[in-house]
Amino acid sequence: MLLERLTQAAGVSGNEDEVRRILRDEASKAGADVECDVLGNLIARKNPGETPRGELARPLVMLAAHMDEVGLIVSFIEKEGLLRFQKVGGIDDRVLPCKEVLVGRNRIRGVIGLKPLHLQESDEREKILKSDNLFIDIGARSREDAEKKVRPGDYASFAGGFRQLGGRTVRAKALDDRAGCAVLAQILGRDYPFSVVAVFTVQEEVGLRGAAVSAWAVQPDMAVVLEGTICSDTPGTDDHLQATRLGGGPALSIMDGTSIASKTMLRQMVEVATENNIPYQFKRITLGGNDAGRIHLSRTGVPTASVSVPCRYIHSPSCIMSLDDFENAIRLVDAFLVSVGEGFRP
Ligand code: CO
Repeated sequence: MLLERLTQAAGVSGNEDEVRRILRDEASKAGADVECDVLGNLIARKNPGETPRGELARPLVMLAAHMDEVGLIVSFIEKEGLLRFQKVGGIDDRVLPCKEVLVGRNRIRGVIGLKPLHLQESDEREKILKSDNLFIDIGARSREDAEKKVRPGDYASFAGGFRQLGGRTVRAKALDDRAGCAVLAQILGRDYPFSVVAVFTVQEEVGLRGAAVSAWAVQPDMAVVLEGTICSDTPGTDDHLQATRLGGGPALSIMDGTSIASKTMLRQMVEVATENNIPYQFKRITLGGNDAGRIHLSRTGVPTASVSVPCRYIHSPSCIMSLDDFENAIRLVDAFLVSVGEGFRP
């Protein structure tokens, strides 16, 4: 299963090689022309209507999904052989202690260690242990021993296995945004009567950086961002503050921290979802942001909308997603693109 392979690949921001390799193969199999830009964005073009003079079949629709995931980077090796680290992207310090990680290209296994509960002062127990006080333990007995396997600058990614949790629910790390990457790979396998440019972006989690340069290069007429987004449908969160609900269908963003969706595209997505009996939901909170934040501001502006798969416990080693939401995201994006082929313009 592609989704499984994608989530098991390591791809902390700036280190997306493993993910890119998988997607490059998928894009080639789908018959796309594939290139990689300076920052590492993978750009896959399908252009059925190219004219003899090499012009593009308009409209040119950019579909973006980010390859990177949140994780850690080794910053210092203690004389005891323990690795200090910095966080890459937004990670809640509370999810870190005792989690298993894979360090460096050779995937050295380690565990995020902390001071034992017994030795914590009573006020320490009340507070969150900051990541600065944690370390990765790879079983090395000294700095020299650790340096045989790991160096400062090596990345560490969560080691969250892919599991089907009964029925139609899966658990894995990095569903944000390998879910979007897998949706995009599926869409790329289909043919539309206009130019589709799939961009698998880098460095979203550290500031939507790959999206900025790729949108500038691609110059799309419109863009759809495919995401794994926050899901907070668990007890203790009021209905109106539940960002999305698991199993409620792909989520459409009206507005988030970095962009306001194109109203005409949003209206069209609702229309095609209704026509085709595809469940969907609106994201109920405006926190967070995604690649749309940069894409819609590219050059003179690009009409942009986001379609997201709800993921519980996002940015952790154990995210949970509904396969129904995932498949309905593919159906919704496909139905939208079909309507573009039939003449929809934002
Ligand atoms: Co994301």
